[in-house]
Amino acid sequence: MMRKDTVCFNVFRFHPDNDKKPYFQKFEMPFTRKDLTVLEGLYYIQNRLDNSLAFRSSCRAGICGSCAMHINGKYRLACNTLVSKLKSNTVTIRPLAHMPILKDLFVDMKPFWEKYEHIKPYLMPGKSLPTTGERIQSPGERAKVDILIDCILCACCHSSCPVTASHEKYLGPMAFLNIDRFVSDTRDGAKAERLAIVNDEHGVWRCHTVFNCQEVCPKDLDPSGSIAHLKMEIVKNIN
Ligand code: FES
Repeated sequence: MMRKDTVCFNVFRFHPDNDKKPYFQKFEMPFTRKDLTVLEGLYYIQNRLDNSLAFRSSCRAGICGSCAMHINGKYRLACNTLVSKLKSNTVTIRPLAHMPILKDLFVDMKPFWEKYEHIKPYLMPGKSLPTTGERIQSPGERAKVDILIDCILCACCHSSCPVTASHEKYLGPMAFLNIDRFVSDTRDGAKAERLAIVNDEHGVWRCHTVFNCQEVCPKDLDPSGSIAHLKMEIVKNIN
C-alpha cells in the first residue's frame, strides 16, 4: 500500500543489447510538491535510484519537443505534465511509438526526421517569386501561418496515428501540418511541387480521419485541419 506522499513511476525498460524483451520497472519516490512534473520524476530516478535509465529532454519548458513520451495512456511532453493532474498515484511511461527503441524511453527518430526532410521544410521561390530580395507579407497573410509555425516536432502526433503504425512510408500528420505551413505562406512559390508530394499513395488521401493527432498535440495544433486544407488545395490546383 503506497503512502499519499509518494508516487510510483512504472517505467518501460529495454536495452536491445542485454534484454530479450521489454519489461516495466517500478520506482517509488516522494510526492510532496503539487508542481512535480513527470520529467522531474524521471530525473529523480536517474539521479538517485537508477542512473542507467535513458530518456531524452532538453529545454524543460515545452519548447524543444524532445521529452515526448506515452504517459498514462496519452502521448505528451514529460516536462509539461504535472503528476498531480494525472489523478493517479501510478505514472506509467512508455516510449514514443513507430520508431526503433535505442534504450528505455529513448528512440531512434531517424524515420521521423526523414519524413520532415522529405517535405522540404524551407521557403522555396519556385517559378513565380523572385529569388533575391525581401518577400513582403501583409499582416493578414502572416496570420495564416501564425499557428502552423508553432509545431515543435515532438512526434506525439506521429506516434498516436494508427495509419503511421501500419504504413511505414505514410508521411503522417507532422509532415502534413508542416507542408501546409509552406503551402499557406505567401513567401513560398512552390505550391505545386509541395502538393505533388502529398498527393500520392503515401500522402493525405491515406488519412483515416481518426483525429488522434489533433487530440494529442501539446501545442493545440490541428494536423487534421491541415490535411483537409491540403486535400482542397489538391482538388483546386492539380486535378
Ligand atoms: S524538454 Fe523540451 S519540450 Fe520537454
